[in-house]
Amino acid sequence: METDPWALHPCRPGADPWSLPLAQFDLSNPRLYAEGVWHPFFARLRQQEPVHYCAESPFGPYWSVTRFRDIQEVESQHALFSSEPTVLLGNPPRDFYLQPGFIAMDPPRHTLTRAAAQPAVGVANLGLLEPLIRERAVAILDALPLGVEFDWVERVAVELTTQMLATLFDFPLEQRHLLTHWSDVATSSPRQPGPLRITPEEWRQSMRECLEVFTGLWNERAARPPRQPLDLVSLLAQHPATCAMTPMEYLGNLLLLIVGGNDTTRHSLTGGVLALHENPEQLAKLHAEPGLVASLVPEIIRWQTPLAYMRRTATADCELAGRRIRAGEKVLLWYLSGNRDASEIPDADLFIVDRARPRHHLSFGFGIHRCMGNRLAEMQLRIVWEEILRRFRRIEVCGPPQRVMSCFVHGFERLPVRVHGL
Ligand code: HEM
Repeated sequence: METDPWALHPCRPGADPWSLPLAQFDLSNPRLYAEGVWHPFFARLRQQEPVHYCAESPFGPYWSVTRFRDIQEVESQHALFSSEPTVLLGNPPRDFYLQPGFIAMDPPRHTLTRAAAQPAVGVANLGLLEPLIRERAVAILDALPLGVEFDWVERVAVELTTQMLATLFDFPLEQRHLLTHWSDVATSSPRQPGPLRITPEEWRQSMRECLEVFTGLWNERAARPPRQPLDLVSLLAQHPATCAMTPMEYLGNLLLLIVGGNDTTRHSLTGGVLALHENPEQLAKLHAEPGLVASLVPEIIRWQTPLAYMRRTATADCELAGRRIRAGEKVLLWYLSGNRDASEIPDADLFIVDRARPRHHLSFGFGIHRCMGNRLAEMQLRIVWEEILRRFRRIEVCGPPQRVMSCFVHGFERLPVRVHGL
């Protein structure tokens, strides 16, 4: 029988976060997130060792930055804390043939590629996409059975985000399940468990398939005049900074956009349902004043924090909060923890739909890499919650959530629910 080394790690669910020696803290244990017990481990670090060094982990040594302000400080120094070669804890394997997307590039390459893709998620284009996204959301919600148990993740969250992504790529809607599949493959690897357990060969095969399908779309769109609303493939194929990308660079950027748009919004949609189930008085506020959806949405995104961290790599010896970081060392910026930092966010451990400064959170990161799709994500969530409040009195969570086994993607595999009409 296969044994999971994480089950025996000293820093695991069941360990006492307040008495475990700080030297044994390794927050890369995915079980802490799968079982939803990460809070007190980070609370202790913020209080006692906010910039923490983990000397030994399956991914080698790394630093954890856990306070809001320290995370912002690192992100604002992008030359000292590089996004290359990767923003994940594990380094890419030696035989890795993919090029990174622009999230893992430093300027000037980062700046040029981001500028090419950005118009797809700019205000004007979102205005054009909104009616289509709303129409698709309404169709999904209207088809839900009242009073009957179903899995929210599969039936609503995955479906909605996949349709949104298909809209953004102008990808054939009937093949949209492929986008979900490639996103799941891209965030899984034999070294770092993700949504799927796959072999390196299965992984490569799937990525080849993704590239093949998207190369077809590239060839078709490189040649045709731009259309409204703008789609991501046409933008990359036609912009002078990106039109000469190699296929592997193209694939790297596609995966960034697919994963960036898919998992994150999916888990926010589900996290919001759970948060409002656990806080019925907050749901009552929304029914009394539906305009509060405007502040509900960023609060859900803060509360869920669908990407737990981003990594940087120090390019020179430096100091952070009194700790000496050496050139080449890995630095993890734990958004999950910064978003619960009570010195920056009042009552950070409470879910409050009418906060005074709801956008004051780190879920979208900070600085030059701040999430490019943040407005699209907020729009999608706003539309869905507006339509939910018009139809349902409440969404009852009727069993324990099943969470993703990952220290990076913070979300849900399954959430059993029943919806109740108004
Ligand atoms: C609630 C939903 C979302 C969350 C929480 C989220 C979170 C993040 C985070 C944490 C980063 C890195 C920020 C940093 O390093 O400072 C990022 C970058 C990025 N996100 Fe999102 N994201 C979301 C939705 C989306 C969507 C819908 C798209 C669709 C296009 C998207 C595309 C991107 C891209 C392209 C980047 C790289 C930006 C850069 O490196 O300049 N994201 N996102």
